[in-house]
Amino acid sequence: MTDTTTILAETRARIADAPDVEALRAIEREVVGKDGVVASLLKSIPGLPPEERKGAGQSANELKQAVLAAIEEREASLGSAALEAERRADGFDGTLPPPRVERGTLHPVTQVTRELEDLFTSMGYMVLDGPEVELDDYNFEKLNIPADHPARDTQDTFYCSSPGSSASLLLRTHTSPVQVRAMERLEPPFRAIVPGKVFRQETTDASHEHTFHQMEGLVIDRNVSVGHLIGAMKTLLRGIFKKEIEVRLRPGYFPFVEPGFELDARCPFCTDGCSVCKRTTWIELLPCGLVHPNVLKAGGLDPEEWGGFAFGLGLSRLVMLRYGIDDVRHLLGGDLRFLDQF
Ligand code: DAH
Repeated sequence: MTDTTTILAETRARIADAPDVEALRAIEREVVGKDGVVASLLKSIPGLPPEERKGAGQSANELKQAVLAAIEEREASLGSAALEAERRADGFDGTLPPPRVERGTLHPVTQVTRELEDLFTSMGYMVLDGPEVELDDYNFEKLNIPADHPARDTQDTFYCSSPGSSASLLLRTHTSPVQVRAMERLEPPFRAIVPGKVFRQETTDASHEHTFHQMEGLVIDRNVSVGHLIGAMKTLLRGIFKKEIEVRLRPGYFPFVEPGFELDARCPFCTDGCSVCKRTTWIELLPCGLVHPNVLKAGGLDPEEWGGFAFGLGLSRLVMLRYGIDDVRHLLGGDLRFLDQF
């Protein structure tokens, strides 16, 4: 009978030379398989003299364990060599953990916009959109702000031209032009909100930015009164701040409403003055009013039959209030250290 030590030495040499995993499997079958060398060694034991049987069994088993261990070791080194070759070939390293899946978050303006859209759609409002590059006609003229009107000075913007057209185009300064676009398209009565981006020619600072967000609201119906307006504004504030908010109306001038108001909300953050309300306990939040008859006419509606109210919520300002953001330039600055916090 061949000495198991010799078999082991020979088998180890063959394992070390095995070029691939298939060759290893063949050696494994041949040595420790069902009809392999170890099996026939074990089978021959009953024919041995009794005193040799125990030793023969032991060495057959040791041979089996040693061969399996050598195969396993060689297989591991063949595997990492294969991975290494793959990595060199295409730069892919299969031994590295997969890249972490970075999950983004919604921008704070988007979060607040969606929340307000839910609130208003639950009250029967539609959510409308309008062009950001707008006609002068809609941004000013049809909103009762003719070319020589001083109100234009407070809303300077970026003017553009369209090749082959004499239309006067600009980046809209507010979401109000969608009021007239809505009246032209929709059958009254209707209710709508218009969240969106607006633009101004501004020298930027902590509270001024050339691009920011507003949300226009418009309700067109018969017999609309200031009472309806106040009721809607209180519901809006309750939805935003999750509690009853006291409001006050001051006269405010906007050419497209008559009467026009500045609606102030009791500061939701203090009772006796803080930095948010500049120690006044009131925050100026919602310019609004009853739609001016000239605007109804510009939208193709008869002011004798239809009336309405409108409001222009400063969405960027509201987002800043909600999250305690002290500089409007953070909102569109694109800095991930800021955005990651939401
Ligand atoms: N569009 C105005 C602005 O940007 C805000 C505004 C005031 C909108 C009164 C309204 C309104 O709908 O009724 O300054």
